[in-house]
Amino acid sequence: MTVESIVTTLTTHWKFDYETHVGALRDLYETAKKQQWNAATDIPWELEINKEGVGDVLDPTAERFKRYDFVKALPPEKRIEFAAKRSAWSLSQFLHGEQGALLCCGQLVEAVPDIDGKLYAATQVVDEARHVEVFHRYIKLLDQVYPIEPVLQGVLNAILEADLWQMKCVGMQVITESLAMGSFKAMQAGTKDDLLRNIVELTAQDEARHVSYGLIYMKEELPRMSDPDRERIEDFAVGAVRALATGGGGSSAGGMSSRQKIYEEMGIDYDAAIAEIREKDSDPAFQESAPSTLRDHVVPQLDRVGLITDRVAPQYRELGFQVGSAVS
Ligand SMILES: [Fe+2]
Ligand SMILES: [Fe+2]
Repeated sequence: MTVESIVTTLTTHWKFDYETHVGALRDLYETAKKQQWNAATDIPWELEINKEGVGDVLDPTAERFKRYDFVKALPPEKRIEFAAKRSAWSLSQFLHGEQGALLCCGQLVEAVPDIDGKLYAATQVVDEARHVEVFHRYIKLLDQVYPIEPVLQGVLNAILEADLWQMKCVGMQVITESLAMGSFKAMQAGTKDDLLRNIVELTAQDEARHVSYGLIYMKEELPRMSDPDRERIEDFAVGAVRALATGGGGSSAGGMSSRQKIYEEMGIDYDAAIAEIREKDSDPAFQESAPSTLRDHVVPQLDRVGLITDRVAPQYRELGFQVGSAVS
C-alpha cells in the first residue's frame, strides 16, 4: 500500500478572542457535540449483510440496472454479485471522499479565522474519521475496497491545495458534502439492507450538519470578499461541478480502471456495456425522471450561497443544469 503526498499551502490563523461572533456556527457546534455516535457500537454489526437487498447502492430500486441488456443476460446469482461489486466500487469512492473530507476539515480547523468556525470544524474531523471507519468496515463485508477514480482524486486534491480557505469550504462543505448527503439520503430511502440503512441514516445526519456549516459560513463570508477572489471561487465551483458531471473527460490514465475490471471479471464486454448505458441514459425523459445528486442537491446549494452568478450561469446551462432566469 502506498502513501501519496501533495504539497499544500495553508495560512494558519490563531484567534485570541474566544467570544462567539457567528452564533449560528456556535449552535451547530453544540448540536454536533450532542449528535456524536460510535461506529463500533451504535451500528448493528450483528446483522448479516443482505447482498441482494443492497443491490446497486446508487440505484436501490434497480430501475436503471434492470433496463440494460447486458444485465438481463446475466443469471440471477451473477446479477446479485455484479450489483454487489458495483456497490463496493461506488462506496469505495465515498470512502475515499470521506478521507478527503477528514483531511480538508483538519485544514479548516487551522485556516478559518473565527473561533466558532474552528470549534465546529474540530467536530467534523471526528465525524469524518467515524465515516472512514464505518464505510471501510461495511465495504469489506460486501466485497473489497477499490481504488479512487482519478477525477475524484483530482477534485479532492484541488480542494486540499486551494490557497483560499473559502475555496476549500465551498469545494468541501458546499459541493462534496451536498453530493454525499444527497446520495446517503437516497440510499437510506431505497436500500433493502438493514445494516446499510442504519449506517447511512446516521451518516446522512452528520453530512446535513456539514452542509449547514458551508451554507451558514459562506453566506456570511462571500459578500465580504473582493470581486476577484469571489470570481475565483465561482470558477473553482463550476470547474469542480464540470469534472464531477463529465467524469473528467476520460478513464484512468494508468490503464484499465477498477470499474472496467469489475465488468471484465463478470464476463461483460465493457465497451459494449458503456455504449448501451450511454445510449439508454441519454433519453431526455429518463434523465428528467432519474435522480441526480448534482442537479438536485449540489447546484441548488451553490445557487443558495450566491455562486451561480450571471457570469458563470451559461457554463452550468452548457452542462445541462437549469439555472438563472436566462434561456440558453
Ligand atoms: Fe462524511
Ligand atoms: Fe461530511
